[in-house]
Amino acid sequence: MLALLLCAVLAVHADALDVRVPVTPAVALFGSDAVLNCSFSGVSEFNLSDLSVFWQLSDTKRAVHSFWQSRDQLSDQEERFSNRTSLFQDQLVSGNASLLLRRVRVADEGSYSCFVRVQTYGSAAMLMQVAAPFSKPLVTWGPDSALKPGDAVALSCVAYGGYPEAEVLWQDGAGHNLTDNVTVSQVANEEGLFSVKSVLTVILEPSSTYSCRLSQPLLGEEAQASVTISAQGLVFPPLALWLTVALAVCLLALLVALAVVCRRKIRESCEEMRAGEEHILATQDFLTNKRMFQWSFLMDTM
Ligand SMILES: *[C@@H]1O[C@H](CO)[C@@H](O)[C@H](O)[C@H]1NC(C)=O
Ligand SMILES: *[C@@H]1O[C@H](CO)[C@@H](O)[C@H](O)[C@H]1NC(C)=O
Ligand SMILES: *[C@@H]1O[C@H](CO)[C@@H](O)[C@H](O)[C@H]1NC(C)=O
Ligand SMILES: *[C@@H]1O[C@H](CO)[C@@H](O)[C@H](O)[C@H]1NC(C)=O
Ligand SMILES: *[C@@H]1O[C@H](CO)[C@@H](O)[C@H](O)[C@H]1NC(C)=O
Ligand SMILES: *[C@@H]1O[C@H](CO)[C@@H](O)[C@H](O)[C@H]1NC(C)=O
Repeated sequence: MLALLLCAVLAVHADALDVRVPVTPAVALFGSDAVLNCSFSGVSEFNLSDLSVFWQLSDTKRAVHSFWQSRDQLSDQEERFSNRTSLFQDQLVSGNASLLLRRVRVADEGSYSCFVRVQTYGSAAMLMQVAAPFSKPLVTWGPDSALKPGDAVALSCVAYGGYPEAEVLWQDGAGHNLTDNVTVSQVANEEGLFSVKSVLTVILEPSSTYSCRLSQPLLGEEAQASVTISAQGLVFPPLALWLTVALAVCLLALLVALAVVCRRKIRESCEEMRAGEEHILATQDFLTNKRMFQWSFLMDTM
C-alpha cells in the first residue's frame, strides 16, 4: 500500500516540475517593495535559454511578468505593472523564480500564479495581501461648551490612510466595551486607503474617560486615543463668571440708588401732604368767612 502511494507520488513528480510558493499569504506594505517567492526543483542542469517563467493574475490570467529565450518579455504585460516588476535573473538557474514587485498598491492585492517550464512544467498560486498602517486616532467631541451632566455628547474618533479596514472599539474609563450608539464609516480614497470615523453618543456623567482603540490584525498593530470630559453644572467658565459678578454689582447699586430716591420722594410727598392739609384748612376758613360775609351782606340789603 505504502509502496503504491510512493509510486503515485513519484509518478506525479516525474510529470510535473515541483513549483513552490508560500502557503500563507504574503503581506506587503503599501508603497514598499515586495518579493513574491517562487522556487522550482526537480530538474537537472539546464541552459537559461530553455527556461520560461510566467507570473500571472490567477483569476484573469493577465500577464504580470514573462520571461523566455533568456530575457524579459513584457509586450503583453498588464499596464498597471509596467516598470514595477523584475525577476532575480542571476538566481534563475538555481531554481529561484521569485518576482520583485515595486511600490505596492492596494489594487495589487490578490492571487498570483507562478508558472515555470524547463523540460517539463509546473505552477503554483499564492495570495498577496496589502497592508497600510492608519494614522494615530484622534478623538474630538461636540458641542464643547457648557456641558452638563446628562447632556448627550457625540464623540468622534478618526484615523486616516490605512488598509485594510480597521476594527474600532470604544471603552470607558473602567475598560468596559461601549457598543451601544456607535456608528462606523470607512471610506476609501482613490488609492484605496481607508479613512475611518467612529461616532459614539454618550450621556455625560460628571467626569468620564472614553478611549477609542483601533486595531489592524493583519499588521498586528493597535493604537488608541482617550479623552476625559468634565461636565460640572455648577462651574461657570471664567468669562461668564465675571459677567455675572459685574451684573450683580450693577443691580445692587441700582437697587440702593432706587431706595434712596424712594425714601426722599416719600418724605417729600409726606411734607407736601401736610402742607396741602394746611392749605385746605386755610381755604375752608376763607370760604366760611366769605359765606359769613355774603350772609351779612344779604342781611344788610334786606
Ligand atoms: C522568500 O524565501 C526566502 C528563502 O526561502 C525566505 O528567507 C524569505 O523570508 C521569503 N520571503 C517571503 C516574503 O516570503
Ligand atoms: C530569491 O532571490 C531573492 C534575491 O536574492 C531573495 O530575496 C529571495 O528570498 C529568493 N527566494 C527564494 C525562494 O529563494
Ligand atoms: C546548453 O547550451 C549549449 C549551447 O547552446 C549546449 O552545448 C549544451 O548542451 C546545453 N546544455 C544543456 C544542459 O542543455
Ligand atoms: C516606464 O519607464 C520608461 C523608461 O523609464 C518610461 O518611458 C515609461 O513611461 C514608464 N512607464 C510607466 C507606465 O511609468
Ligand atoms: C471588548 O470587545 C472585544 C472585541 O469585541 C473583546 O475582545 C473584549 O474581550 C471585550 N472586552 C470586554 C471587557 O468586554
Ligand atoms: C442612543 O442615542 C439616542 C440619541 O442620542 C438616545 O436617545 C438613546 O437613548 C441612546 N441609546 C443608548 C442605548 O444609549
